[in-house]
Amino acid sequence: MRVLSILLFISIFLYADEVVRLTDKYLNSQKCKACHYQIIDQWKSSWHAKSHYNNDEYFRKTIDYLGRKSRKSKNAIRVSCASCHNPRITVTQTDENYEILVAMKLDKNSGINEALASKNLAEGINCVVCHNIDKIHTKFNSSKHGVHRISWMPQGTMVGPFKDAFSPYHKTEQRKHFTSEVDTLCFTCHANDHTESGLVFTNMEKEYQKNAKKCVDCHMSPKIDGVASTLPLANAKPKKRKVRKHGFRGAHTESMWQGALGLSVKKTNKALIVTLKNSIPHNIPSGFGSRELIIDVEYKNAGEVIARESISLTRRYISKRKKPTIAHLAVSQSKDMSIAALGEKSLKFKLNKKADSVNVTVSYRLVNDEIRTLLDLKEAIWSKKMLINTHRMKL
Ligand code: HEC
Ligand code: HEC
Ligand code: HEC
Ligand code: HEC
Ligand code: HEC
Repeated sequence: MRVLSILLFISIFLYADEVVRLTDKYLNSQKCKACHYQIIDQWKSSWHAKSHYNNDEYFRKTIDYLGRKSRKSKNAIRVSCASCHNPRITVTQTDENYEILVAMKLDKNSGINEALASKNLAEGINCVVCHNIDKIHTKFNSSKHGVHRISWMPQGTMVGPFKDAFSPYHKTEQRKHFTSEVDTLCFTCHANDHTESGLVFTNMEKEYQKNAKKCVDCHMSPKIDGVASTLPLANAKPKKRKVRKHGFRGAHTESMWQGALGLSVKKTNKALIVTLKNSIPHNIPSGFGSRELIIDVEYKNAGEVIARESISLTRRYISKRKKPTIAHLAVSQSKDMSIAALGEKSLKFKLNKKADSVNVTVSYRLVNDEIRTLLDLKEAIWSKKMLINTHRMKL
């Protein structure tokens, strides 16, 4: 019995990591363009499409930094990140032998370098990632995510929300992770991001408070009238469908932040109490570490600013040597300062007695000062303060 269950365990393990190589016919979004161009246009502007070493400065510099600070080679690190960032990669693990090749500068023609250079990977999380997932193994150990948590369809079968879809180019099949259990699809990667030693620095699945809305309601769109494919079918017209947009807009888009947190301000004898209310079913900030909420308080007298105060809600990471570091190298982390899913947080500021009015502003930054400096992030988006909410009050 024991042997059997061990064998079963091993076979499940191997099965999950099985690689299905794509031939040219289904390789990337270019191949879907003739019949799904509107979806491709929307997806192209998403950060799913930018999830690659070459296309996301923060991602690239994090890998470069890890390459300098750990014993693993940069390409071996890229393979481990690919399990969620580039899941169509054809190798899912590297070993000591590869490190020896790298040290001897003999890795150039290795399968691993070849796999990383694939054109398909440059598209990040593309159509044939989500729409080729056959099964999501929710019973697997929670440390296994991305490519280690799924099994692929045979190539050429696209899974989706419809039972009755017909395409002359590919087979179609319906799966629950596109209908009633669509959150599970997102949690394949948006969960349990951890360091090699097992410190979990973000876990959206754990903090999530299930309510009426699903991830796709807010990060795709409500269901709207449209077409799934522009290919004319019956009556020489494309079939009408209820569809969602494929923009996956999130933290990098300022307009998504407007009003994302409720803001109220109360005055007591000695203090100003600022309350932030989160009506979203996950924490804010959530997702990746080192995101930041900034609360700025500006005291005024007769229209002139007389004092300013600021609180930063962010998470900091400490290395083995007790120095500030990036999430992936942390051995410990500071307290979670985020506003809990469907929760609220109140912050106290000292009341300025000379002021006759106050402006409170809440904004968001993708990367806090500490990590921006450490990684030398240059693009403007990483330091941009995105407005969430403001409140003006007479004192
Ligand atoms: C991150 C995962 C993800 C990626 C990447 C993705 N899709 Fe989807 N797609 C979905 C989900 C989820 C739905 C189902 C939405 C619903 O009906 O609730 C969907 C629905 C669809 C549908 C059915 C019609 C509709 O729009 O609802 C088509 C067709 C489709 N996707 C094609 C594509 C193509 C082509 C690409 C590549 C540009 C792509 N998808 C990329 C997750 C994804
Ligand atoms: C020659 C046209 C054509 C090409 C090329 C094409 N598709 Fe489709 N696809 C269709 C048609 C037609 C449908 C069915 C539309 C309907 O029933 O409303 C469809 C349906 C789908 C669905 C929905 C399946 C379901 O059961 O819900 C997905 C997902 C999808 N295609 C993905 C892709 C991807 C990814 C590619 C590129 C690798 C691609 N398609 C290439 C024509 C095409
Ligand atoms: C294969 C893994 C994977 C799956 C499946 C996946 N995501 Fe993502 N998602 C990522 C990664 C990796 C990023 C970060 C990309 C980057 O910034 O380079 C991301 C980023 C995002 C963002 C942030 C975008 C921004 O502009 O800040 C949103 C929102 C998002 N995903 C929503 C979803 C939703 C909703 C689903 C389910 C329908 C989903 N994702 C499924 C891996 C995945
Ligand atoms: C009720 C709407 C709503 C639902 C449901 C929802 N989100 Fe969000 N999410 C938001 C808003 C608003 C933000 C903040 C602005 C932004 O980044 O889009 C956000 C932020 C994010 C971010 C960026 C966080 C950061 O600080 O980097 C990710 C990633 C994300 N959501 C993924 C998901 C996933 C995955 C699900 C489902 C498990 C989900 N969201 C469910 C509204 C929602
Ligand atoms: C368990 C899946 C998973 C693994 C493995 C993973 N990531 Fe991510 N990563 C994500 C998701 C999901 C997001 C998007 C969260 C968000 O936007 O808040 C993300 C976002 C990021 C971001 C922020 C990107 C941006 O544009 O803001 C960086 C940087 C990053 N990851 C680096 C890495 C590195 C480096 C590795 C490998 C050492 C790695 N990740 C491995 C899931 C993963």
